[in-house]
Amino acid sequence: MSKMQENTGNQYKFAQRMSNTPRSFVREILKVTENPEIISFAGGLPNPQSFPVGPISTSVSEVLEESGSEALQYSTTEGYTPLRKYIAERYSSQGLNVNEDEILITNGSQQCLDLVGKVFLDKGDTVLLEKPTYLAAIQAFSLYEVQFKSVRLLEDGVDIDEMENMLSTENIKLFYAVTNFQNPTGITYSNNKRKKLAKLMRDYDTILIEDNPYGEIRFMGSSIPPVKSYLDEGILFGSFSKIVSPGMRLGWIVAREKVMEKLIIAKQASDLHSNYFTQRIVYQYLNTNPVDEHIQKIRNLYKKQRNLMIKMIEEHFPPQVKYTQPEGGMFLWVTLPEGTSSLELFDRAIEENVAFVPGQAFFAEGNGENTMRLNFTNSDDKGIEEGIKRLGNVIKERLSQN
Ligand SMILES: Cc1ncc(COP(=O)(O)O)c(C=O)c1O
Repeated sequence: MSKMQENTGNQYKFAQRMSNTPRSFVREILKVTENPEIISFAGGLPNPQSFPVGPISTSVSEVLEESGSEALQYSTTEGYTPLRKYIAERYSSQGLNVNEDEILITNGSQQCLDLVGKVFLDKGDTVLLEKPTYLAAIQAFSLYEVQFKSVRLLEDGVDIDEMENMLSTENIKLFYAVTNFQNPTGITYSNNKRKKLAKLMRDYDTILIEDNPYGEIRFMGSSIPPVKSYLDEGILFGSFSKIVSPGMRLGWIVAREKVMEKLIIAKQASDLHSNYFTQRIVYQYLNTNPVDEHIQKIRNLYKKQRNLMIKMIEEHFPPQVKYTQPEGGMFLWVTLPEGTSSLELFDRAIEENVAFVPGQAFFAEGNGENTMRLNFTNSDDKGIEEGIKRLGNVIKERLSQN
């Protein structure tokens, strides 16, 4: 084949990095669940009932009327300053002292993962993940051709002894953690664990990436300060996706000035700045509405859904099945007896028109065949009742065959 044919034929010369980066397994599953007959606990979607459609509509009109031509213009990479100030002040009122110069507005917290990859990760670096971890973090970091190690999650956060062992024997560049109501497990780090983690990161000179899109959605217990409050050099992500709207795609990174300089360069090269019009709308919304009341409504709604799902699990799942009982967020995590394949169970569940995410997708180094993630925020009461009943039957049927 001549050189010219090669380039125009179906053999594209894709970059090496693409060969190690799979499509998102969850997104593939979501295609199966598009069938409206299916009760889906698979997605990671906030409940659309929680979206402030009316107030956002008013905010759009206000922004356009008050400063339309400015709001439609290009803007700075860092983001709209009043919005950054708002975020900084909210942190300060919660006990974490940061100023607006330490905040960069991003295209959702998903972009934070990519920017951190651009700024810190070289080919062959080792990234430490929780076991299991947020699937799209594996995907985002994979593009930087890194290696993954992972450390076990216990009920109160990562296994600190195992982690120390790893940090002392491996050359680990950064550790990525979802410290509140983790996706996929729903687990939250205790305060004690946070302090220990901060010390380890400092002792072993490892970068901490603390991803916190669910922190405000605590519907039980009391809130715990971010690890960053014990580790000033830590990097923290936040998001408006779960408290305002995911479709508006706004998140942020909190980092020290030295890191911020690099992140800004990476973001400039990537997209110049996040959608300025949307930033203006969200700021207008936050500034003219009782946001805490709105967040409290989301918490009440999700608490009800979580409680119903747990009640149904108690009634319909066999007693050998274990599950987490999250104090916030959107997911709970189910562990089936050893040797039970949740992938096989998935196919059977789909026949019964119910879907979940088989857990192994969340393990960067394999394992987790007997686990699954259930989302409780995007089904109505009837869906939760009926879906968990069906899932319980499928699990019982499978276990009776063992
Ligand atoms: C742990 C975690 N990080 C980041 C994201 C991305 O959120 P967004 O980009 O909408 O802020 C999600 C979304 O589900 C998530 O669960």
